[in-house]
Amino acid sequence: MCGIVGYVGAQQANGRPLEVVMGGLKRLEYRGYDSAGVALVPQEGRALATAKKAGKLANLAAELEATPLPAATAAIGHTRWATHGAPTDVNAHPHLSEDGALAVIHNGIIENFAELRAELEAAGVTLTSETDTEVVAHLVAAAYATTPDLTEALRSVARRLHGTFTLLAVHVDAPDVVVGARHDSPLVVGLGDGENYLGSDVAAFIAHTREALELGQDQVVTITPTTVSVTDFDGNPVEARRFTVDWDAAAAEKGGFGSFMDKEIHDQPHAVADTLLGRTDTTGRLVLDDLRVDEAVLRQVDKIIVIACGTAAYAGQVAKYAIEHWCRIPVEVELAHEFRYRDPIVNSKTLVVAVSQSGETMDTLMAVRHAREQGATVLAIVNTHGSTIPRESDAVLYTHAGPEVAVASTKAFLAQITAAYLLGLYLAQLRGTKFPDEIAEMLDALRELPEKIQAVIDGAGHVREVARSMADVASVLFLGRHVGYPVAMEGALKLKELAYIHAEGFAAGELKHGPIALIEEGQAVFIIVPSPRGRDSLHSKVISNIQEIRARGARTLVIAEEGDSDVLPFADEVFYVPQTPVLLAPLVSVVPLQIFAMELATAKGLDVDQPRNLAKSVTVE
Ligand code: F6R
Repeated sequence: MCGIVGYVGAQQANGRPLEVVMGGLKRLEYRGYDSAGVALVPQEGRALATAKKAGKLANLAAELEATPLPAATAAIGHTRWATHGAPTDVNAHPHLSEDGALAVIHNGIIENFAELRAELEAAGVTLTSETDTEVVAHLVAAAYATTPDLTEALRSVARRLHGTFTLLAVHVDAPDVVVGARHDSPLVVGLGDGENYLGSDVAAFIAHTREALELGQDQVVTITPTTVSVTDFDGNPVEARRFTVDWDAAAAEKGGFGSFMDKEIHDQPHAVADTLLGRTDTTGRLVLDDLRVDEAVLRQVDKIIVIACGTAAYAGQVAKYAIEHWCRIPVEVELAHEFRYRDPIVNSKTLVVAVSQSGETMDTLMAVRHAREQGATVLAIVNTHGSTIPRESDAVLYTHAGPEVAVASTKAFLAQITAAYLLGLYLAQLRGTKFPDEIAEMLDALRELPEKIQAVIDGAGHVREVARSMADVASVLFLGRHVGYPVAMEGALKLKELAYIHAEGFAAGELKHGPIALIEEGQAVFIIVPSPRGRDSLHSKVISNIQEIRARGARTLVIAEEGDSDVLPFADEVFYVPQTPVLLAPLVSVVPLQIFAMELATAKGLDVDQPRNLAKSVTVE
C-alpha cells in the first residue's frame, strides 16, 4: 500500500527533486490514492518546504501549482492508503517534527504506536494527526537531538518499532541526504548518475534509471547524490544486490489509451508472448533458467500448494487443473491468509508456489515465510523484480508482463497462468509424466495464444456494446466448470472492483445446490462454455446449465468457442473466442470478461484505473 519516493541529486538547489518525486508518485499512485504529500529539503534554511493534500495526486499537484515550493536538493513524497486516521490533509504524509526540521513518510503499520504516542505525550510533545507515522517523526527528532546523525537516529527508532514499515526521513541539516529503513515492507534503491532514488518499487524511478539495488529485511539505507550505504538495524554494513530492471519506462505510460486498464488489456498478447520467450533450448526442451532450484528437489515433490490472493489465486486455480493433469502431482490452491493461519501440513516434499504480481503482498509473504519454516521449497511466480517475495523464496519464475499500473489486475493474470503452465510442463518433462512430443505440442499451442488473445481484443466490439447497455444492472452472476470456474470468479471480481456491482462466480455444477435460487426474470448470467472438442460431457453439462437458468428467466451471456452452435438456442448474447486446447482456454475466455467490466464501469463514469477503497500492493495483513 502507500507509495514512497525519495530523491537526492542536485548539488545546486533546483526544481528537479520535486519533479522526480511527483513523477514517481504518479507512477506509484496505484499503491494508494486517498492523499499525497511531499517534503523538500532546501540547500540552506531552517525549515523544510512541504505540501500535502487529501484526495488524489492531482489535488496535490494543483496545490503545488497554486503555491509553488522553493528549489531543493532532496525530496521525499508519499501517496497514501489510510490505515490509522481518515484520509485528511492533516493525516496525509509527510509528518514533521515539532520544529519542522525533520520529515518522515511511512508505508505500513506501527503496531506499538499507542504506547509510543503516550510516551511522547508524557514528554510534552504535541501530536497533530491521528496517524501512527507522526509518532515516528517525533521519535526520530528526539533521537537526532541526542545524536545529530539522521541515519543513526532512524536506525535507533527502527529498532523500537513493532509492525511493518518502510520509512524515509529527511532533515534540514542534511540537504543532500535521504535515509530509508525497511521492515516487512518494500523499498528499492535506484542508482543514477550524480543522483540516487528510493522507491516502494522500481516504477518510482524507471523513467530515470534501470539500475537498482535490492534491500533486505531490517536494513537502513542512506543515499546522497553520489553514494549509497546500507546497514542492518545495528549499523553493520550490508552488501545490497544490484540488478537491472528490464521494464521499459514507456511501458508504464498510457500510450494513447484512455486508461491504464485499457492499455494493459491490450498489452496481454505481449505479456503472454514475453513470458514464454527464451524458455526452451535448441532442442526444444524447456529450460527455466530463473528457476534456481535443484532438479532432485523437484523430482521428489509429492504435493504442490499454490498460495496467493485475489486474481493471483484464480491464476493458481487454473494452474491446478493443468499441473495435476500433466504431472499427476496433487495440487492444492489456498488463499495465502488462510494458509498461514490454519497450521497447514507442509514438509520437505512440498513445493509451495507463491503467485504474486507485486511480489509484495503481505499475506502471501507471510505464507511464504511460514512454508519455508516448515521445510517446504518455495517457488515464486512474480512480475516485479527487486520485490520481497522472490527474494525470500527458494526459486523464482518471473512473468514478463511489464509494469501493471491499473489497480485491478489483467495482464499479470494472463502472465501468471502462462508461467504456471510453463512450470507444469517443466515438471512433466522432469518427472517424465508426459512424452517430449506431447510437451512440445502443448508449448506450440501456448505460442499460438498471443495471436488468439489479440483476436479477442480486436473483436470485442460486441462485448463493449453489451456492457454499455448494462450500465444500470444491479447484479451479474458468472458460471464456469473446470478451468472455466476460476475464470468465472475472476470475471465476477473484475466487475465488483471496477463497476461496484454485486457479482459472483460459481462452479456451474454447484448451481442446483443453491445459487439457482438467485435466478429470476432478467438476472444477467455469464456462462463460460468449455470447448465441445474437449471432454464432451463437460460441454453438454454446461449447455444443460444454460437451459436450466434460461428456463427461469435469466438473461444468458455466453462465452463459447468459435463454431460452437449448440449454445445458440439458449444464449441471449454470444461472445465467441478462438479454439484453444481446453486447459489453455482461460487465456482467451477471461478477456471478454475483463473488457465487459472495464466498459461497464466506464459507462457508469467510474475511474477504472483507481477503483474506490483499493490499493494495488496490499502490503499490510
Ligand atoms: C484484483 C487484484 C488483486 C490482486 C491481489 C494479489 O484485480 O489485482 O486481487 O490480484 O491483491 O496481488 P499480487 O498479485 O500483487 O500479490
